[in-house]
Amino acid sequence: MVHAPSWRVVAASLFLVAGAGSAAAEKAPEKTAPAASRGPGHAAIASANFLATNAGFEVLGKGGNAFDAAVAVSSTLAVVEQQSSGIGGGFLALLHRASDKKNIFIDARETAPKAVDMKVYVGKDGKPDRDVSTNGPLSAGIPGEPAGLVWMAEHYGKLPLAVSLAPAIRIAKEGFQPDKRFLGTIDDRKDVLARYPASAAIFLPGGKVPTPGWTLRQPDLAKTLERIAAKGVDGFYKGETAKLLVSASRSAGGNWTAADLEAYKVKEREPLSVDYKGYRVILAPPPSSGGVAIAEILNILSGFDLSKVDVAHATHLTIESMRRAFRDHNEYLGDPDFVTMPLDMLLSRFYADGLRATISPDKATPSDLLPTAMAPEPGMHTTHFSVIDADGNMVASTLTVNLEFGSAFVAAGTGVVLNDEMDDFALVPGQPNAFGLRGALANAPEPGKRMLSSMSPSFVFGADRTAVIGSPGGSTIITQVLEGILAFVDGKSASEITAQKRYHHQYLPDRVDVEDGAFDAATTKTLTDMGHTLRKRSPWGFMNVVTWDHRTNTLDAASDPRRPSGLGKVQ
Ligand code: GLY
Repeated sequence: MVHAPSWRVVAASLFLVAGAGSAAAEKAPEKTAPAASRGPGHAAIASANFLATNAGFEVLGKGGNAFDAAVAVSSTLAVVEQQSSGIGGGFLALLHRASDKKNIFIDARETAPKAVDMKVYVGKDGKPDRDVSTNGPLSAGIPGEPAGLVWMAEHYGKLPLAVSLAPAIRIAKEGFQPDKRFLGTIDDRKDVLARYPASAAIFLPGGKVPTPGWTLRQPDLAKTLERIAAKGVDGFYKGETAKLLVSASRSAGGNWTAADLEAYKVKEREPLSVDYKGYRVILAPPPSSGGVAIAEILNILSGFDLSKVDVAHATHLTIESMRRAFRDHNEYLGDPDFVTMPLDMLLSRFYADGLRATISPDKATPSDLLPTAMAPEPGMHTTHFSVIDADGNMVASTLTVNLEFGSAFVAAGTGVVLNDEMDDFALVPGQPNAFGLRGALANAPEPGKRMLSSMSPSFVFGADRTAVIGSPGGSTIITQVLEGILAFVDGKSASEITAQKRYHHQYLPDRVDVEDGAFDAATTKTLTDMGHTLRKRSPWGFMNVVTWDHRTNTLDAASDPRRPSGLGKVQ
């Protein structure tokens, strides 16, 4: 039965922006500008690891553009942060090409192998078998990152792959000293890494979790990268690397074939675009669920004047918008090549008007009064970097192997950690997966299909300022990026955006996760009195932001202060 709560018609005119929902609201606001007409003359990069940021600048120094720098940053992260992303995983990236002001979305998400069989992911009790879906070769989708990097270099870069991959190859050969975060994730995954001899040989020297000061050299990974540098896509998806990947997967119980690897294709898709308070926000389309959710939230919020209410009420309206967008998040979305999605409806301002009308100005809506769907619990094992080059080209790229060290399975002879992205599918319809994802058919696995992702690389273009924003963090990516966009629109700098305290609501579980210090005592009390359940959580995310102020033609870059390994640099 559908409940008709009494608050349904309450939407205090005090908060509503005049004209919201009218046809006029569909037009781009006047202040919106696609991007400045000339480049900043210098460059900014923010990534999760200083070696990766420096690799990006090294390649810019060799005459590369933002897209070459993105190849260098991604491939270096694949060496120095294998717990978060790598060439055994995938990425979603937004590119902005300054010469024609074109925004491009590159979908290098992993795909299900042809032999995917949902039954193997179901335990005897009928529930998902987490061990199969998150550990070892059956948890791995066919990697997209190598094909995506080659695509970016060949279609948008200026330099040969041998140059843009050189820093990563050098660091893989010569070695680097992993930081505490890297060593901590080895510790987290040591039991599974120990199951696979090729994984243990690299990450558990002498059978033990290494200690600070240890140098990690990865000659097999260097050779794998060299084959990509020499032969492009064929250097990974055919020939020696492909042979090694397939034989390692199959000999450990996996189901990959040479045909799966050969069939992998990068997709370019039309980015999403939404106007908010005079800014044009460019977002990732499906198979990201994040862009749709952020667009929905911004459309709902654009009908409120948050500056007219106190922090507690502004936060309440934002939480209620999050709740409604996340309700749709997993219900409708999946791989656009496999499912038809009601995107016109979800992205329409009229749909947002309807959702806004259900928000009480001072009372939380219990999620179980909204038709059911369920979103994933946060995960922390992805990475994001942002780049603007001297000409104004931009890249926002979020990369992942899913959980820490993905499947924890290294394909012997390649140095490549395979992802465990199969767990991002709704593997057992109706049952929550590892992150609480309750499966919808739109995201059920099928051969060659891409699994839904929360990754949300984003651009925010204004007449005066532009931002490149993104973060890791499972479903919290969506609310982190949303809060980053709102802060940027409110005039905050890159450092203020990355440092600001976070909160998160994802419809189910029906609670607000709150970082320590996000709300003062009065706001906490008001939100609690409104009916919100607040739960303190340790800090999350690893946001990397670059901004460009067109008035002064200056760049700013900031890496999340919660994680000291990151580096935001302007040069
Ligand atoms: N594997 C995390 C995500 O793509 O959302």
